[in-house]
Amino acid sequence: MSETTFNVIGVASDAALRAEFAADLRAGFGMPKKQIPSRYFYDAMGSDLFVQIMKMDSYYPTDCETEIFQNRAKELLKTLDRKTSIALVDLGAGDGSKTKLLLSELVDQDFDLTYVPVDISKDALVTLSEKLRPALPTTPIQCVVGVYVDALTALSEDRPAEQLLTLFLGSNIGNFPPEGTVRFLARVRHTMKKGDRMIVGFDLKKDPEIIERAYDDSEGITAAFNLNLLRRINREFHANFDLEAFTHHALYNPHTGAAESFLVSLKEQVVEIQDLEMSVRFEAFEAIQTECSYKYTPEDVRRYAASTGFEVETVVTDSRGYFADAVWVAV
Ligand code: AVJ
Repeated sequence: MSETTFNVIGVASDAALRAEFAADLRAGFGMPKKQIPSRYFYDAMGSDLFVQIMKMDSYYPTDCETEIFQNRAKELLKTLDRKTSIALVDLGAGDGSKTKLLLSELVDQDFDLTYVPVDISKDALVTLSEKLRPALPTTPIQCVVGVYVDALTALSEDRPAEQLLTLFLGSNIGNFPPEGTVRFLARVRHTMKKGDRMIVGFDLKKDPEIIERAYDDSEGITAAFNLNLLRRINREFHANFDLEAFTHHALYNPHTGAAESFLVSLKEQVVEIQDLEMSVRFEAFEAIQTECSYKYTPEDVRRYAASTGFEVETVVTDSRGYFADAVWVAV
């Protein structure tokens, strides 16, 4: 059996993460249009709820990307160099079921492979590597605990293989606003060598009704996911948000190109956030924006690649044309 290793890269302390969350809440609740960054969804319960979202029929992105990896993995991997070692660097592996399909194909094709999952949570990486181990008895697994860009910088200084294939799947890129997308991709490119590759998952623009069903499901799972943010603030900052006094509202805005999610106050109310010594006033039907999830055209995919130092090698779309995985090579 091959080895699993863990490498911790400059992870911020719990105190620093809390200070950052506090600053984001202060700023976000202080704005005329209130907002909280979507990265705070993912406490333990939020992560569980997101797993439930991925299993819903109406949440098409997971099904689409699974279909692509099940049926078209060979196409995605066709441009790789079979003569040199490869590291599959996985940014945000989740439960690993999509990655597993690519890993199996790389193993079947006899690549000299190392798997490098990256996550901010060591617990998530332990669970993931234990889950994947049976299917990968001889593949070294090098877990990196850290934030993406720091982890990529460390990997560029101490490369695990001759060629890197970095995964950024599930349209996780969609949470960056357009300017942030260019900044993030340029920083990622900076950590790569010419010839390294990346597979990026993009949720494509489509009929707004299909998008809206994915972000406002009839079972109320996405509503629970969104409202959990208030529960988290209650717990971590001794606030008194009444979850019954807010409602989940999600829509697709074809002008911004984003699925936008809100928590709408159902009445005029004042919420106390003890630890921040802050009172937050809501007018009736005033909203907090909690997420933007951007959608793309095939032209957007080419434009982002070209403007950040990549060339598009391959684009594979699912049978419904809802989602695209693109292979980009650093040029
Ligand atoms: C994890 C950012 C890809 O935007 O589709 C799912 C998060 N929010 N349902 C997405 C999410 C509501 C998801 N990403």
